[in-house]
Amino acid sequence: MKNTVAVILAAGRGTRMKSDRPKVLHELLGKPMILYLLDSLKEAGITDIIAVAGYGSERLKAALKEVKVVTQKELLGSGDAILQVKRILGRYSGDVLVLYGDTPLIRYETIKNLITRHKGSSASATILTVTLSDPTGYGRIVRDDKGHIVKIVEEGDARFYEEVIKEINAGVYCFKAGDLFEALSGVRPENKKKEYYLTDVIGILHKYGKRIESISSINVDEVIGVNTRRDLAAATRILKGYISEDLMSNGVTIQDPLSTVIYPDVRIGKETIIYPYTIIESDVKIGEDCRIGPFTHIRPRVSIGDEVEIGNFVELVRTKVGDRTKVKHHTYLGDTVVGKDVNVGAGTITANFDGKKKNETVIEDGVFIGVGAILIAPVRVGKNAVVGAGCVVPKNHNVPKGATVVGVPARVLERSQRRER
Ligand code: UD1
Ligand code: CA
Repeated sequence: MKNTVAVILAAGRGTRMKSDRPKVLHELLGKPMILYLLDSLKEAGITDIIAVAGYGSERLKAALKEVKVVTQKELLGSGDAILQVKRILGRYSGDVLVLYGDTPLIRYETIKNLITRHKGSSASATILTVTLSDPTGYGRIVRDDKGHIVKIVEEGDARFYEEVIKEINAGVYCFKAGDLFEALSGVRPENKKKEYYLTDVIGILHKYGKRIESISSINVDEVIGVNTRRDLAAATRILKGYISEDLMSNGVTIQDPLSTVIYPDVRIGKETIIYPYTIIESDVKIGEDCRIGPFTHIRPRVSIGDEVEIGNFVELVRTKVGDRTKVKHHTYLGDTVVGKDVNVGAGTITANFDGKKKNETVIEDGVFIGVGAILIAPVRVGKNAVVGAGCVVPKNHNVPKGATVVGVPARVLERSQRRER
């Protein structure tokens, strides 16, 4: 997007979260909320991004590697936060898109629409507004009898007839840089919180006779501002809904979306069924025609083939599972490569951690593992081998191709027949 700089305000401490962590680094489904905003900006084609940090700025800088970060030394309000970027922008005369780091679910389409309206109307400011049945906690949009925006009133300063206004400020705006900074110099901390409010710029621009435009989102969910842990849970619920709807529209069955948790960055093939109480974290790929759950926990860096069954109380992490393999009950597989057509018996455990580092287990194609086996990594079970029930396979004690091993520690059965397939 040409001639547009995005500024994300993220200096606030987030007192209402009751936390030492900068608010925008609180996670939604495993990912700091501010990163969702960066994704949407990227998707909208905006690459020039400045974040304003304050409380916990070092932590924020570490999390925002690709973004310019300026520091607001004293948290004097959102208006003061914007003044901090003036130094960097110098004589810049394009548009400034402002977003709040605690409003993470704004969709990229909405950002694009706002910018398009702004650039097409030659307004000084264009605001994203939404009409909420319960506007509590948000700034209210005050319009005159012709419908023109006159100002924004913060909840704490609203008079009773303004409090009932249901159209709210979502906290996403596009400004002409010159008009923004000129109006900002007129903002005074004359309000309940004694802060310099960015929202006062709107009233000032109106007084100057400048044009103020708005677009309204019909999606009330995307504008949620996360100020409390309760809001964080509500935002998580909304995000979960987006993710599962996306998967369902691509041909995945999610039997009970409410009890299922799927993180972003999960790919699932069509015809796969996800049963209730399943958690699938980021960086996971699942093939087509699989049955996953109920009560399955799939952690990061897992890749599952087609027609695989993963069942009750199975935990997988950093693991690859081949086509048609079954891991159906009470199993932990960590740092494991499982081939095709493998049956992993109930209660099988890979002991991947030796107290110092993680080690790999390899289970080749066609292997049959009996119930309650323990595989101590690093170890390899050769093609078509059988590991007997309750067997403990010590580390580096590779099971030969086609062999049957039993006992504790595992030994090869003398009468062992090579399984043919
Ligand atoms: C703000 C808006 C309100 C809007 C709502 C939408 C103002 C004055 N009010 O209210 O109209 O309806 O968001 O969610 O802007 N920040 C700084 N430096 C500061 C203070 C705040 O960077 O000194 C940042 C915060 O980190 C946050 C954002 O600005 O990301 C908004 O601040 P917050 O205190 O959450 O404002 P709200 O009361 O939610
Ligand atoms: Ca907020």
